[in-house]
Parts: sequence; structure tokens; C-alpha cells
Amino acid sequence: MGGGERARTGRAVVPVSLREIETERVARLPIGIGELDRVLGGGLVPGSLVLLGGSPGIGKSTLTTMALGRLAAAGIRTLYVSAEESAAQVRLRAERLTGGDPLSIPVVAETGLAEVVATLEVQRPDVCVIDSVQTISAEELGGAPGTVGQVREVAAAVRRVAKARSIAVVLVGHVTKEGSLAGPRVLEHIVDCVLQFEGERERTYRTLRALKNRFGSTDELGVFEMAASGLVEVPDASARFVEGATLSPGSVVLAAVEGTRPLLVEVQALVSPSELVPPRRVVNGLDRNRLALVLAVLARHARVPVGGADVFVNVVGGVRVDEPGADLAVALAVASAARGVPLSGERPGRPAVCFGEIGLTGELRPVGHAERRTAEAARFGLGRPIAPAAGAGEPGPKTLAEALSAAFAERARSAPARAA
Ligand code: TYD
Ligand code: MG
Repeated sequence: MGGGERARTGRAVVPVSLREIETERVARLPIGIGELDRVLGGGLVPGSLVLLGGSPGIGKSTLTTMALGRLAAAGIRTLYVSAEESAAQVRLRAERLTGGDPLSIPVVAETGLAEVVATLEVQRPDVCVIDSVQTISAEELGGAPGTVGQVREVAAAVRRVAKARSIAVVLVGHVTKEGSLAGPRVLEHIVDCVLQFEGERERTYRTLRALKNRFGSTDELGVFEMAASGLVEVPDASARFVEGATLSPGSVVLAAVEGTRPLLVEVQALVSPSELVPPRRVVNGLDRNRLALVLAVLARHARVPVGGADVFVNVVGGVRVDEPGADLAVALAVASAARGVPLSGERPGRPAVCFGEIGLTGELRPVGHAERRTAEAARFGLGRPIAPAAGAGEPGPKTLAEALSAAFAERARSAPARAA
């Protein structure tokens, strides 16, 4: 308190209502790949830093090369800094790609940070890709490339030149299978936008989403398919997954929402007697812990015991759905697989569709965007989803047990001749 008397008297600042504040309009460079532009929020912002994370082999180099190829064809100045592959390897990839003009992309194969920064100063491209942030190193720092200190230094130095010269930079970063963006996670606060590229390497589908976006929403989802000539956009992924759904025991369609985009995906389960203790729990595209929870609730509250069986659950196509709304799909798929009875939807010959979270006491809980999910199911001719009642007095199952009887009763109704 005593020091207060000697404190400097400040100048009063006049507040301005938010309405009168000018917002700066961000200029954008649309890339021309719709699924990518949408996730970015309309294109790349000059002077901004985008981190593109994903596991090795997922297609980061392919996507960034395609992006630069499109931009180059539109007369935008590009630069590809390859710190992982030789220029010849980059060329071989570019030769496979269709769309844009990938062979006109200027490339440097360089791993020294000082060299990269100096090159950016001289070349002054509009858009630059650095592949990858973990293989560039700042010599003066010492230590192996890819360490936390190194990637931070690389990102900070690149950011300085990007801002000063108005270069949009895409930093490619490797994420391990376990999802620890070993290097890149520590960069999240340095970059303007973090994109995550996901999927199973040996499957064809890839999803792209923004985990952080200073210039757009984090609600968009881009879907691609890896083909022999690069990544192909899949603007209507729901249609593909629904048409591919099997209608066999163990299969159900999940009306998922990724961000705010509805997406119908097929969830499949296989339950088979096990000789292992503990039995196998294999899950692809969903959270392992949610599977454990759903199996426990199935056993305890719905009399579907699978304790002695191997359980495999898979989201078809290699898509990841990390949302609580997937619980009911897992439960229905597993129950259908365990009973060997297919679920069938409201519409004969069409797959059953569902969504909903499952609570520990066996209750069904509503999840976000119920109308969007329902509308997407209707759009693809699946009828009404099996989903938690929207509120007290509303129609729909309130518990997992009720959802199961609804799912199997539906079948009995649509195939009465076969009922015993
Ligand atoms: P890549 O972009 O090199 O992955 P990342 O940079 O994320 O490590 O490509 C991943 C895989 O995709 C690679 O195994 C080969 C395959 N691929 C195709 O199937 N079609 C193509 O047109 C290209 C360029 C790659
Ligand atoms: Mg690569």
C-alpha cells in the first residue's frame, strides 16, 4: 500500500462500444480444393501460419503438394521446402497428381532453419509449405531436430518472416499414432490454425478438421479419398457410406456430427467366443474407453453379456468419429452381432440408423444437433433414427434397453412372416 502514493498517474482511456470497432477484413487465397478451403474458412490468409498434423503416410505431403499445384496454376507464387525427401522424390509424387500444375512448384530440399528463412526472404513466395517442421533444425540451438526446443524455434523464426513478408506458411507436422503431436502440440499457440489429417493409413478415406482456427470455425470437416492420382474430394461422404452399408448382423449406420457437419457412417461389430483372458477388445475409428463403457452397460442393463467374447468394432472406411453420440451405434452393433440378428431400419431394405449417448445407469442421453442428424438420415432415405427422447414426454427410447427393443422390434414388424 505504501508504494501506492508514488505510483504513476495513468491517462484514462476511452472505451469504444464493440459496434463501433472496425474489424479487419482478412484477405484470403482460395486454394481451389473445396474440402480444404472450407476447413480453412475460405482459403489461406497471407502472413498466417497453418500447422498440418497427421500420422506418417496419411497424405500430408500429397495434400500440400496438390494445394501448391493449384495455387501455382492460378499464378500464385509458391515454394515447397522439403526437409524430409529429396527434390527428386517430391517430383515423383507431383507427377502422379492430377489438377493444378504441380510440376511448376519451385522446390528446395533444405533442413537448415537459417537457410530456409534466408530463402523465404529472397524468394518471397505468397504461399510456402515446410515439410516437415520436425526435420528442420536451428543449428545454434544444438540438439536433434524434432525436439520441443527445436520445433518451437523453427516455428517462431518462420512466423517472423511470414508476418514480415506476408507469406502464408503451412508447416507439416507428424503426429504419432497415439495422437501425441510430439512436436506440433507445443506449437498450437504459435500458429494461427491447426489442421488435423486423420484416417487409417491402409484405408481409403481421410478426414481433415481444424482443431484451432483464428480465421474461421473449427466446425468443418473435409473428407478425401486417397486414389492413385492423389487425394480426391468426397463432398457427399454420407451417400457413399450408406450405400456401402451391409444390412448384416452387427451393422448399423451412425448419424454422426463432426463439428456441425452431419455425416452418416457405418459402424460394424463382430462378437466371437474367445479363448483369451481377458478377451480381445479391438476398436477402429472410435474411442477405446467408450467401447469398454458401452460393453459394461450392455451387460449390466441390457442383458447382452459379452464378457467371454472377443469384440471388434469398426467404423467403415477408416473414418474417426470421436463423439458421445456414437455410443448407441456401438451398443446396437454389438448387440446385433452377439444375437446374430440384423437390425433393420424404419424403411425396409435400408440400414437402421441411430445416435445417442449412453449413461452409466443405462439411460440414453440426448446429444447435440439432433435435428441435423435426423435430417441427414431422412435425406438418404433411412427414415427416423433410433435416438434418445428429446425430453420428458417426447417419443423415443429413454434407456438402452428400450432402444434395443425398438431396434429389434422394428425388424419383427418389417418381416412378420419370419417371426416365430
Ligand atoms: P504422403 O503424402 O507421402 O504421406 P505423408 O506426407 O503424410 O507421410 O503419402 C502417403 C501415402 O499415400 C503413400 O504411402 C503413397 C500414397 N499415395 C497414393 O496412394 N496416391 C498418390 O497419388 C500419392 C501421391 C500417394
Ligand atoms: Mg510427407
